[in-house]
Amino acid sequence: MNQNMTDTAEQEALIPVQEPQRQYYFMERAKEYLEKMSRAAGRRLTFCVTTFGCQMNARDSEKLAGILERIGYTEEPEEEKADFVIYNTCTVRENANQRVYGRLGQLGRIKKKNPHMMIALCGCMMQEPEVVEKLKKSYRFVDIIFGTHNIYKFAELLATRMESGHTVIDIWKDTDKIVEDLPSERKYPFKSGVNIMFGCNNFCSYCIVPYVRGRERSRDPRAIIREIERLVSDGVVEVMLLGQNVNSYGKTLEEPMTFAELLREIEKIDGLERIRFMTSHPKDLSDELIEVMASSRKICRHLHLPVQSGSTRILEKMNRRYTKEKYLELVERIKRAMPDISLTTDIIVGFPGETEEDFQDTLDVVRKVQYDSAFTFIYSKRTGTPAAVMEEQVPSEIVKDRFDRLLNEVQEISARMCARHQGTVQTALVESMNDHDDTLVTGRLGSNLLVHFPGDASMIGKFCKVRLGECRGFYFIGETEDDG
Ligand code: 5AD
Ligand code: SF4
Repeated sequence: MNQNMTDTAEQEALIPVQEPQRQYYFMERAKEYLEKMSRAAGRRLTFCVTTFGCQMNARDSEKLAGILERIGYTEEPEEEKADFVIYNTCTVRENANQRVYGRLGQLGRIKKKNPHMMIALCGCMMQEPEVVEKLKKSYRFVDIIFGTHNIYKFAELLATRMESGHTVIDIWKDTDKIVEDLPSERKYPFKSGVNIMFGCNNFCSYCIVPYVRGRERSRDPRAIIREIERLVSDGVVEVMLLGQNVNSYGKTLEEPMTFAELLREIEKIDGLERIRFMTSHPKDLSDELIEVMASSRKICRHLHLPVQSGSTRILEKMNRRYTKEKYLELVERIKRAMPDISLTTDIIVGFPGETEEDFQDTLDVVRKVQYDSAFTFIYSKRTGTPAAVMEEQVPSEIVKDRFDRLLNEVQEISARMCARHQGTVQTALVESMNDHDDTLVTGRLGSNLLVHFPGDASMIGKFCKVRLGECRGFYFIGETEDDG
C-alpha cells in the first residue's frame, strides 16, 4: 500500500509520524473527502459495522464505529441500506468463513446499485493469506482489506481509499505495537468492554487465534485505568476486561504486574460499580485472583473457565496444560472461596482421537462442576493448526451423537443452577426494554443471567433490586423490590 500516491512532498511533510496523532490527521482528511461525497450524493452518508465472532471483535467494531462517526458518517443499523459496510470477521470455526463469503456475494449485488457504496473487510479471517488471495481474485468489488494488527490505522486506510479510488489492502503478520487514545463508540452508554491485552501465546492445538491475533501483549495499566476513568466519567458503570487469557496479564510488561493486582487498582475507581472479565485460562488462574475476587465488592461472581474437554488424555493433545483432576481441584478452590459463584465454560466435542471413554470424562466434569451455562462446540478442523493434521479425526455421526448428549446434560444442569436463585433478591443492571413486551425491562445479574421485570425506559443503565420469580430455563421473570 502506498498512500503517497496522492501526496506532494509538502503535503507529506505535514503528516504526523507519531500515533495516534497521525490517525487524527487522516480522520480530518477523510472528513473533508466525505463532505464532498455527501454533497455529490445530496445526503449524509451512512455506515454499518457487522461483527462476527467474539467480544474482542465486538470491541474492535466499536473502535471502527468511533472513527467513522468522527469522520462524519452516521450509523445505519440495516446493512443493506448503508453506504459503507464493514465486516469484522471471525475465523475460529471453518464454517465462519463460508458465511462471510455468502453474505459478501449479496453485498456485491447491492453495491452495483449504489454508486456511493464502499465495502471493507477486517478481522481474524483477513490474517489468512488464502482468504486475501480469494478476495483479490473473486471479490474485486471490496474496497479496503486490513487485518487485526493494524486496525488502529483504519482512518489512514480509508482516507487512502477515498483519495486514490483504488482498493487498499494492508495486512501485517504480527505487531508489538499498541496505539492508545483513539476514538470509540459504545453500543451501550452504561457498560463497555475494555481490552487489557491482545494476542495469545498458548497455542492450543485446535485453535487459530494465536496465528491470527499474534503474540500476547498487555496494555500499560495506566492506560487501562485512564480509559476506565474516562468511561466512568462518561456514564459507564460496568466494564468487561477483555483478553484471550486475562490470567497471564502483565507478564510481558516492562514492570510486570499480575492480573489480580490490576483488578485491585481498577476496583479503586470511584463510580465504577461492576467489573467482569474474560477469558480465564485454568492453567494460569492464581490463588491471588481467587482472593481478590472473593474480597471484592465490584467484581461479579461469575467466572468463564473454559474446560474444552474432561479427559486428561485429550487435554494433553489439545496442549491445554492441565489435567482433569487439576481443573476439578481448581473449581473446588474457587467454590470454597465463593460458594455463590456462577461458573460457565466452553467445551469442544469430537477432538481428534476422542473415544467414548474420553467423552464420558467430559460428561463427568460437567456433572461435577455444575456449570450455570456452557458453550458447546463441535470440533472444527482449522487448516493451519496442529490438530488439523492429527490422525483419528472422529466421524461426524459419532460427534453429532456426543454433541446432542452433551447438550442435553448441560441444559438440564443449567436449568437447575438457574432455578437455585428463584425467590432471592438480587441487583440487576437494566440494559434494555424487553424485546417482546414493552411493559418489561431486561436486566443483567452479577451472575450474567437475565431477568425481565416491569419497568420503563428511564430505568435503562440503572441498578435495581429485583426479586427473582419464575425461572424459565435461562432467564427469570422478576419484580422490583423496594430498597427501604
Ligand atoms: N473447533 C471447535 N471449537 C473451537 N474453539 C476454538 N477453536 C475451535 C475449533 N477449531 C472454541 C473453544 C474456545 C471458543 C472460543 O471456541 O472452545 O474456547
Ligand atoms: Fe485459542 Fe487456547 Fe489461546 Fe484460547 S487460550 S485463544 S483456545 S490458543
